[in-house]
Amino acid sequence: MGTTRFTLALGALVFVSLFGSLLDAASIPSSVKGLDYRSLIIYLKRNPDYSPNGPAEYARALRKWGAKVPEQLIKSLAAMAGAHGHPSKGEEGELGDVPAVSIRNDREYLSPVGFGTPVQWLNLDLDTGSADVWIYTTDTHPYVAQSRDHVFRINESSTAEKVHNTTWWITYGDGSSAYGGVYRDVVTLANITVHNATVESAISVSNSLIQDPYMDGIFGLAYRLPVQTSPKQPTVLSSLLPLLNEPLFTVDLRWRSPDGVYTFGYIDHERHSGHIKYTSLLPGAQFWELEYTGIHVEGQDRWYKSTQIPWRAIVDTGTTLILMPQDVSDLYFSDVPNAMFNESIGGVWTYPCNNPVLPDFEISFDSGFIARIPGKYMNYTNMPDNPKVCMGGLQGWDDSGRAIFGDVFLKAVYTVFDVGQGRVGFAPKKF
Ligand SMILES: *[C@@H]1O[C@H](CO)[C@@H](O)[C@H](O)[C@H]1NC(C)=O
Ligand SMILES: *[C@@H]1O[C@H](CO)[C@@H](O)[C@H](O)[C@H]1NC(C)=O
Ligand SMILES: *[C@@H]1O[C@H](CO)[C@@H](O)[C@H](O)[C@H]1NC(C)=O
Ligand SMILES: *[C@@H]1O[C@H](CO)[C@@H](O)[C@H](O)[C@H]1NC(C)=O
Ligand SMILES: *[C@@H]1O[C@H](CO)[C@@H](O)[C@H](O)[C@H]1NC(C)=O
Ligand SMILES: *[C@@H]1O[C@H](CO)[C@@H](O)[C@H](O)[C@H]1NC(C)=O
Repeated sequence: MGTTRFTLALGALVFVSLFGSLLDAASIPSSVKGLDYRSLIIYLKRNPDYSPNGPAEYARALRKWGAKVPEQLIKSLAAMAGAHGHPSKGEEGELGDVPAVSIRNDREYLSPVGFGTPVQWLNLDLDTGSADVWIYTTDTHPYVAQSRDHVFRINESSTAEKVHNTTWWITYGDGSSAYGGVYRDVVTLANITVHNATVESAISVSNSLIQDPYMDGIFGLAYRLPVQTSPKQPTVLSSLLPLLNEPLFTVDLRWRSPDGVYTFGYIDHERHSGHIKYTSLLPGAQFWELEYTGIHVEGQDRWYKSTQIPWRAIVDTGTTLILMPQDVSDLYFSDVPNAMFNESIGGVWTYPCNNPVLPDFEISFDSGFIARIPGKYMNYTNMPDNPKVCMGGLQGWDDSGRAIFGDVFLKAVYTVFDVGQGRVGFAPKKF
């Protein structure tokens, strides 16, 4: 089988890439040379055989954000899965949990995070749209754990302490859930060691999550959302902040490239151009939620602004697509030749893949920043059952004007999550 390859990039920083095999967790270096230990940098790995299933990611985004997944979408995902004979691990899980195909590879960006003493490395999805840090462990139900390559072996960590009488659970919009017990242990991000962090150990996890074989857990980085434990525990983000030079983190996701990076505690000015312009979070925000002021489709004369309620968006590294009010996505695709709103799969915008490049899409903020998303990024992926038809990275939903700015957006900008000042900064990227 393939091997794990290490490449030196940017001087002494170590970057790990995957070629045809799962990462050998034990072989990730436990420290990264040349870093100020009070700030850290994490390189993002892209799945080697990532074959995104656009409709399934749309379903996942709807579920995550509590919107109803259209019945037609559920049915067509099941049909696509059947037609292609994709293996479905963990069939014993909740039936009807949408995406048999999809969830398999629907988390594109994973980062190595260490747990326990001595450190055990797992590949986590760093998710600004949730607050909990949960992982697969030796507590995980055997039918789940046996099909996984990495679980955290709690009994082998000398620093793991069970938090008694404390449980966690997360329910998704479709009623499925994940739950488990809670430990306190050391969490290592690059070269920063967080002691006594709240580590949630999965006992059971919804089928849709199990089917992603690469993701060993989720690392929540929401702004002020409490964790889903009872009784409440501190978030790992709150334990991490005092260790950082500055109470902020940044992300630079890259389009179809393994060169994405998170930094914690500092801004990497080499990775953006122009000035960083900040927008304050909405009052009382628990997520990274802010207002945006307008949108523009390349080639059209005018900018559009909301006529009723202000437009709000949550910046979410853990959602793949951009979700916006239906009339916004309709407006965008009205300029894409032969685009079709496919209602038989629950309302998804598609178009022939051999179209010329899609128009760029722009979003403005009151800071004066304009995020320009290249048309190339707006073209998300081929349909799983028809490679000649493509699906847009922007899709509509109706959630009182709220939008989710997922990875399609984040790949186009450099983003600063400023916890200390309750704001999000954006800058154009150096491509
Ligand atoms: C990692 O951080 C520690 C301080 O916590 C420091 O002593 C050590 O030199 C760092 N390791 C590397 C390889 O930079
Ligand atoms: C820890 O538990 C796992 C699974 O139960 C077992 O395979 C392993 O040998 C144990 N390790 C130690 C050091 O006890
Ligand atoms: C856990 O809860 C049970 C029942 O409420 C109680 O008897 C027990 O003492 C608690 N354990 C700890 C460690 O708090
Ligand atoms: C670990 O964190 C818990 C929860 O905040 C706290 O009650 C406990 O005192 C901490 N323990 C240590 C050793 O800092
Ligand atoms: C809608 O999408 C599904 C899934 O790709 C496809 O099978 C179906 O033919 C599409 N409908 C139309 C009218 O093109
Ligand atoms: C969209 O992406 C697909 C998959 O990478 C590619 O085959 C297709 O040519 C692209 N189409 C456009 C219009 O960019």
